[in-house]
Amino acid sequence: MDLKTLKEKDKQYIMNTYGKIDVSFVSGDGVKLYDTEGNEYLDFFAGIAVNNLGYSYPKVVEAIKNQAEKIMHSSNLYYIEPQIKLAELLVKNTIFDKVFFANSGAEANEGAIKLARKYGKLKLNGKFDIITMKKSFHGRTLTTVTATGQEKYQKHFTPLTEGFKYAEFGNIEDLKSKIDDNTLAIMIEVIQGEGGVNIAPKEYWEELQKLVDEKGILLIIDEVQTGVGRTGYLYAYEIYGLKPHMITSAKALGNGLPIGALLATDEVSIFEPGDHASTFGGNFMATASGIAVVEEISKKEFLYGVRKKGEYFRFKLNELVKKYNFVKSVRGKGLMIGLEIESDLIKDTVEKMLKRKILIGSAGGVVLRFLPPLIIEEKDIDAVVENLDEIFEEIKKDRK
Ligand SMILES: Cc1ncc(COP(=O)(O)O)c(C=O)c1O
Repeated sequence: MDLKTLKEKDKQYIMNTYGKIDVSFVSGDGVKLYDTEGNEYLDFFAGIAVNNLGYSYPKVVEAIKNQAEKIMHSSNLYYIEPQIKLAELLVKNTIFDKVFFANSGAEANEGAIKLARKYGKLKLNGKFDIITMKKSFHGRTLTTVTATGQEKYQKHFTPLTEGFKYAEFGNIEDLKSKIDDNTLAIMIEVIQGEGGVNIAPKEYWEELQKLVDEKGILLIIDEVQTGVGRTGYLYAYEIYGLKPHMITSAKALGNGLPIGALLATDEVSIFEPGDHASTFGGNFMATASGIAVVEEISKKEFLYGVRKKGEYFRFKLNELVKKYNFVKSVRGKGLMIGLEIESDLIKDTVEKMLKRKILIGSAGGVVLRFLPPLIIEEKDIDAVVENLDEIFEEIKKDRK
């Protein structure tokens, strides 16, 4: 189908939940995407941090093909070999002991919240309050939208789930002021993705860890966006040496196949049969893909490469900060990067990059957001920065 027909049929048959861009992709290879009209794009958004190994990554494709030929689904009533293997891989590469598999980030977070609530009920005298952060993003189910500290996502869907409070990200005093005798858990992203690629200083994380240790509060880290190598570490809690009781993972874990995972320590893994379940969670296809992904990305040299490429990219972007007064700052870790520019320029810059066949995004209405496949090369970074430089040069001229 050509783009015009796709647009008409989409309007007729698909619910109107996404503000869509006028492109439809038909194939991808490495860091390149191809659309219905035969155009080639350089992808620096990776399907919002999903395609961390890019497109048609041979080991992932092979794993999926092999699995599809054997069996795609049984049920969690039976033992599932790739699910068990992926769980073992995740456990061996993290500080956690047990995994529950779901199908998305929101669902992994629901699992974390349910597990925390059960733990509170049984082990912590019925405590149930969960503190999350303002500008956070945890998903679109009713409870994860409650956890998401942004009113715009919640306002049409009240009443929300009970027992949530919101603190300012990066402000330890505000967090302390929200804690009381009923505080069960803190749920937080290491880098706020949708909220604007917001980071907090090392001291904040040290104090936060001290706080949860002293007060016996559960720490849940949402690694749906930061996980699976995105920040140059398999999971971003490692950056600050945090010791969460649980993390959640999704997005890049299947490199395109839907998967979510809740990883927890033995201490808090108190689910029993009947407590929680998912028909598709951890099925053969998603976990076969997950194994190929984690085997590649957990390699030390791969993660080192992500950190190095991230440093190079930030260095190049910082040159733009020096050159243009409307380009304010660079933030992020590894290849999760935000470039803060004057907010009225953001939409336009993303569109201009699209016209130049480069995909980037934005976040929080404050930054240009780059989430490239982790397999990019220096020349791809150079191409993105050169194109941004030219666009900013035009803006500078127009402003004179
Ligand atoms: C940090 C974080 N948590 C949760 C989610 C929700 O994940 P999903 O869309 O797979 O439900 C997202 C999605 O952007 C996210 O960035």
